[in-house]
Amino acid sequence: MLIGILSDTHDCLPMVKSAVEQLNENTIDLVLHAGDYVAPFVIPVLAGLDAPLIGVFGNNDGDHALLLARCAEYDNLQIRGTFAGVTAGGLSIGLLHGQEQDLLRALMERGTFDVLVHGHSHKAEITRRGAMLVINPGEVCGYLTGRPTVAVLDTDDREATLVQL
Ligand code: NI
Repeated sequence: MLIGILSDTHDCLPMVKSAVEQLNENTIDLVLHAGDYVAPFVIPVLAGLDAPLIGVFGNNDGDHALLLARCAEYDNLQIRGTFAGVTAGGLSIGLLHGQEQDLLRALMERGTFDVLVHGHSHKAEITRRGAMLVINPGEVCGYLTGRPTVAVLDTDDREATLVQL
């Protein structure tokens, strides 16, 4: 299966729309969002995804209750808190925003997931820590790097690629 991975959308509606279109074109089965939606008005745009979305909160997500309330209006959107453990395509996936450096480092060094997904730095990077694939899809908003990206994980071959929006 194909999993779309995005993070740090930061209110940037045009790029969120572009990400949704890109992921829908690729017939993605599941979408993971590593946090920093920021304002709840982005939630109806994410609801345009054909696939279900599982997300976590980022450090810039202030109004958790309102974000959860907006997600509850749609069948395909779910924010699970600050960490989500997901099993998909036979892989165990850990999902967090990553602002707590010690926690992120501990999970990278001693994590037992097949795949660890985080964001926060806005720097797109796909690396391996032993057998664990570590994916930072970069930033959808493009605010810090000028290079908006998402990632696509193919669970069959355990490979992820970056897609520039
Ligand atoms: Ni952040």
